[in-house]
Parts: sequence; C-alpha cells; structure tokens
Amino acid sequence: MALGNVNLTPQFVQAVRDAVSIVDIASDHTRLKKAGSRYKGSCPLHKEKTPSFSVEPVQGLYYCFGCGQGGDAIDLHMRLSGDDFPAAVESLARRYGIDVPTRQAPRGGRDEPDVDRALEAAQAFFRAALAATPGPRRYLAERGFAPELVDRFGLGYAPPGWESLLAALRHDVPLRDLEAAGLVARSPKSGKHYDRFRERLMFPIHSLSGRLLGFGGRALDDDPAKYINTAETDRFHKGSLLYGMDQSKRALRDGGRALLVEGYFDLLGAVAAGIDWVVASMGTALTPQQARLLSRYAEEVYVGYDGDEAGERAAQRALPLLLAENLSVKRPRFGAGHDPDSLRREQGAAALVAAIEQAPDAVVLEFERLAPPAVAREPRRRAAAARGIAELLAPIRDGVLRYGYARQAADRLGVPVELLWRGLGPAEETTAAAGEGVARDGVVQSEEENVLHLLLVGGAQPAAAELPPPAAFFDGACRAIYEAWSELAARGERPNPRALAARVGPHSATVARLVQRELSLPAGQEGGAVSAALALLRRRWQRQRARELTAEIAEAERRGETDRIRSLLQEKATLSRALHPRH
Ligand code: UTP
Ligand code: MN
Repeated sequence: MALGNVNLTPQFVQAVRDAVSIVDIASDHTRLKKAGSRYKGSCPLHKEKTPSFSVEPVQGLYYCFGCGQGGDAIDLHMRLSGDDFPAAVESLARRYGIDVPTRQAPRGGRDEPDVDRALEAAQAFFRAALAATPGPRRYLAERGFAPELVDRFGLGYAPPGWESLLAALRHDVPLRDLEAAGLVARSPKSGKHYDRFRERLMFPIHSLSGRLLGFGGRALDDDPAKYINTAETDRFHKGSLLYGMDQSKRALRDGGRALLVEGYFDLLGAVAAGIDWVVASMGTALTPQQARLLSRYAEEVYVGYDGDEAGERAAQRALPLLLAENLSVKRPRFGAGHDPDSLRREQGAAALVAAIEQAPDAVVLEFERLAPPAVAREPRRRAAAARGIAELLAPIRDGVLRYGYARQAADRLGVPVELLWRGLGPAEETTAAAGEGVARDGVVQSEEENVLHLLLVGGAQPAAAELPPPAAFFDGACRAIYEAWSELAARGERPNPRALAARVGPHSATVARLVQRELSLPAGQEGGAVSAALALLRRRWQRQRARELTAEIAEAERRGETDRIRSLLQEKATLSRALHPRH
C-alpha cells in the first residue's frame, strides 16, 4: 500500500493510538522488567549502564531519566525506527491489524503515484529472476556468499534487455508508478519506456524500520557504471540512511559498537564473517545525520573503509563527525588495496575479524599521520602539526577525553601540553548535554512539577476557584501542561495523561516523566496536598504580579494612560487584598 495514499484521518490515528502497546514497542528493543505498576529497563534510545527507562503501560507513556526523552508509543516507534509520523502510524496499524484507510483515487486518477507498491512488485520480480537464473547465483557463490545470506538480504537480479521488468509488471503496476519509483525511464527520443536496471545484481535498501526505499544495482556485465542506485529524493536519500541497519540495529545496540563500511558487498562480507554489527554508508561521504544515527545505537564505531587512498581520505573526513557525537572511533587496517570483503576472500574470515579486533584508535592513528617522528626536529612543521592536531581534537566534547588525547599528542610533538591545550578552546563538561537538567531517579524537581504530578496521577480534583491562572507556572513546559489540563478540566473532563501528552506537543516528554513515579502520598491525601501546593503557586505568582504591577503603573503614569492606570490600580488592590487578608 502506498504511503502517499494513506488517509491519516483523526479516527484512524486514534484507533492506532488505542491499539498500540507501548510495552510491545519498547520490548522489541530492550528487556523490560515489571516494577510495581510500571516497567523498567535499559533505555533503547541511548547507551547506558544502569536502567533508567520507565514505561507506564496504562497511560501508554515512556520516559527515560537518563536522556530525558519521553512520549507515547508512536513517538517511541518513530525514534526507534526512523519513521516519520505517517510512516509510523501506517506501520503500527499493520502490526496491530488495523485497516488502513486509503484516499480514493478521484475520477481521472490524479492522486499520488503508488511508489511502495511498485518497489515491492519490483523486489518480488528481481528475487524471482535471481532464483531462476544460474549465472548471477554462480557469481555470488564464487564470491563466497551462501544462499541463506543472499536470501536474508533479499538480493535479486535485473535481467538484461530493455523491457524485462516492464513486460513482467506492466499489467499489475501502472507505468506511472514504475516511473515514479525510478524503475523505468522514458527515452526522450522515442518516448518509449525502458528498464533502468539491466543485467545487475539488485540490493534492496530499507529504512531503519524495514520499509523498502529503493535499490542499488551492481553491474554484472562490463557496464562502466559499476553501480546504479535509485535516484535521490526526499524518500530515498542516501545521506540519511545506512544500508543494512534495519537488520543490524539490534546487534549494534547489544554490543555497543558498529562496523561502518563503504559498500554493499563489504557489508555482506562482514556478515558472512560473523560480524553482524555492520552498516554501510553506500560509498558517499559520511553525513552528520548518519553519525548521529550511529550514536543512537553504539558507543564505538569501527571505520572499515577501503584501504586505498580514497578510503583513507573518506575515513579522515568521517572522524570529526563521529567524534562530535561522542563516539569512540577505531580504524581497522585491511592492508593496501583491500576492502573488508576482498580481505575476507583472499585471507579468510578470521583475517577480517582479526583486523577489526586489532583496530587501532583512529585519533592516535591521525596523530601518527599528522606528526611523523621527523616533525619534532623541525619547528615549522611541528607548529603545523600542532594546529592540525588541535583541529582534530576540537570536536571532542568530553573534556577529560580531549585532555587525554592532547597529552598523548604533546608527548609525540615534544611540547608541553598547555601549548597544545591553549589552541583548543573551551571543552564542554565531561558528559553529553543530553542528561542535563533532567530529574534523575524519578525525583520530581520543582513545586510546579509536584503539583502537576498530583493532578495527573493522584485522585485530586480541585475546585475551579482553587486553580491559579497558567501564569502561576513559571516553567514553560509546566505552564503548557497545566494550561492544557485546565482546558480539559474546565470542560468537565477528567484529563488523562495520554490525552494531555497529545495536546502539548514538544512537552509530552515532561508529561511522560511526571507520570513515571509512584505517588508519594497515601491515597486520600492528594486532595489536600494539591490544594496547598496550588495555593503556594498562586501566592508566588501574586507576589511576582504585584512587583510587575508597580512597574507597569509607573510606566502608564509616564505615558499618561489614565484608563490603563485605573485598571492596573484596581488589579493591584485586588491582589493586595488576596496577599494580605484582614484578620
Ligand atoms: P565499491 O566500488 O567499493 O564497490 O563502492 P563494492 O561494494 O566494494 O563492490 P565490489 O566488491 O567491487 O563488487 C562502494 C560502494 O559505493 C557505492 C555503492 O554503495 C558501493 O557498494 N557506489 C560505488 C555507488 O553508489 N556508485 C558507484 O558507481 C560506485
Ligand atoms: Mn569495494
């Protein structure tokens, strides 16, 4: 079914929200343990040693006290899969067996092309063609790829000739869809359609969540274009993808490390050698997006690019991007002219595994390149090397790590570390900024959060007169949540956290965090506690408002705005009475 054709009606989205179990989604990526009415586990969104991920099954919300992310099941699925909202809703609907409403093609059929269907049909065709053709199968076998592996990665075969796919699919799939999917092109001269992929081994490329996005096709004849890929579009954008990650993401998470290779075959070769924690950047320069994606799943990246000049340069360019994501980086040595797959083919899987396990630290390797031993004897070269090293270390945010590298480089250059350090500029704190300002261990930090917590999970339903205006909440997230809560309460609804989370957009993580805590008060006492806390906030706000009023009145007097002065004075009088009641 085409994504573009799915009709995201509110009813449909609600049906998906109702059906999805957050425990299911989270359990796909982490082991959850029951703890009271909640579940706890290691956060699937960041690497951590002590579990700080909490799931509230009834409300359907998650929150991580480590990285501060939180939200509902759809949000969690989006973060884990890389799906956008429509894709997430569609994929969850399929998982839970909910009918997916599609937009009816209007008369004249001018709706969006069904790219998904075209790709899926092509995928089936390519696979069947591979099964039916001994040549390409022999090619794969000669390169040392077992049929099971070929099958697992869905490899296929595009036959020679200009109309193989066309002839096979044109009765089932509209030409327009095949064209939109980049599977067929039209000759500008004759106006005739023809297959874009001919006589090629076909690698299907999937999103993180396993959605088919396009193909890479390797020439089996002497075509000068060794690879042809699906054209770049918003949907298929190499720079935001990593090939094979749909299959390897779990292994990455489990082991905390990722082998990053250049090519489709390198990835297959690594898997054939038993290294299933591998992804491929598909021959293009690593992007910040890809580095970020890796950092969500691993702590350590092995840059397994080719051993040639181009591979070395690409690895050097990837290094700062990876360091900036707090990743530690290693650089396996495959030997001149080898890529992971050719090493495996020539020297065996054990040689590939050994090269990876013995990979040196990529930063130290760069020191050796930037500051070869001779440099220490020549002041100018030494100064240039120091600048290069400062540049290399600049993206490292962890101050201690950066200092450690700087010391090592200083030793190498034969200069005091302070000299090098000075060129570096300020380092950040030793930990990533992600966890800052986040309440740890379920401790709700402020009085404002305390009140919201009681309103959300306690049985308290304060009277309307007890409710201060939203302005009484100084924190933006708390104010937004309280405002949404008040609106629902004013309609006589009993606001539930899930409905609330859906209303407050970016603040849904705060809602999620606030419900992830056992009520600290014995049942029956929440009401009193809420009233007291609301009164406290109201007084705090009144005092602040009184101060503001003094300034506003002075300003109005300066401008001679008599009407405004009168209303401000009135407000001040009311406030004073509230703040200093006569006994
Ligand atoms: P390689 O040329 O190293 O190919 O390009 P490979 O995957 O190792 O293939 P074999 O082993 O020679 O058969 C590395 C990657 O760069 C991308 C592909 O993703 C390829 O796997 N690439 C390369 C292209 O997209 N287009 C090209 O023309 C070449
Ligand atoms: Mn290669």
